[in-house]
Amino acid sequence: MSALDRAAVERAAAKCAFVGKTFELHDELGSTNDRARELAQAGAAEGTLVLAARQHFGRGRLGRAWSSPEGGLYLSIVLRPTDEILRRAPISLLSALAASEALDAAGRVATRIKWPNDVLLDGKKIGGVLADLFKERDAATLILGVGLNVDTDAASFAPDVAQIATSLRAHKGAAVSLEETLRLFLGIFEGHYQSVRRGGGALILARASDRMATLGQRVRVRLAERTLEGKAAGLSATGALVLELDGGQREVVYAGDVEEVRPA
Ligand code: BTN
Repeated sequence: MSALDRAAVERAAAKCAFVGKTFELHDELGSTNDRARELAQAGAAEGTLVLAARQHFGRGRLGRAWSSPEGGLYLSIVLRPTDEILRRAPISLLSALAASEALDAAGRVATRIKWPNDVLLDGKKIGGVLADLFKERDAATLILGVGLNVDTDAASFAPDVAQIATSLRAHKGAAVSLEETLRLFLGIFEGHYQSVRRGGGALILARASDRMATLGQRVRVRLAERTLEGKAAGLSATGALVLELDGGQREVVYAGDVEEVRPA
């Protein structure tokens, strides 16, 4: 299994304008998001990248753990988005799109996005995005955490996710380059972020929508206080999920856990 070294990260970020120009590469960390937040609080520039070969306390959405054995890409990027960018497209969805496109190009596969920001291959999870947003001296700082199961041996996933997770290596039965996947992700992500910055949020949302696994299907959405069921009708202009409930009324969901409801 080929681990990344500093020279590989430099090559992977060489064509980027600001992402990865400054980076830290660790053999092990608790969570790259926590380290990136420390760096951001100490004034790190936008685009600062933190990578770890393994995480002991990798964090997922909704307080879940993210299994982070060797062979995956675990990275966090310090972003300082303006309110305008944040209104144009959710950065976590934009990142899931970049993750999905990078995995497809690296592994010659066809991943799908599960709203809001999971990446699936063969119905199993192959990538995820965790965006931690906080205000600092009146400016927004966003720590964008991305986990991609690239060259991970399926046997090394934590037992509780082994059945629901996959990796490019497990799918193809062959090694996949971390450097190449990182290069693809950083380049595609930066391109999408710049495009939203220039006003192209609608195009990014349309591309994400094209890859959305659940659109048009009947889904159950678990919210903090209640559960909704209906047809996933589409994405709103800000990337929220538009649900068509059984009575015909529409409900816009901003955060939640979606599962497909198969006909009995
Ligand atoms: C999810 O699907 O629930 C989101 C998973 C995000 C995992 C990544 S791995 C790098 C970064 N550091 C973390 O602790 N989490 C994110």
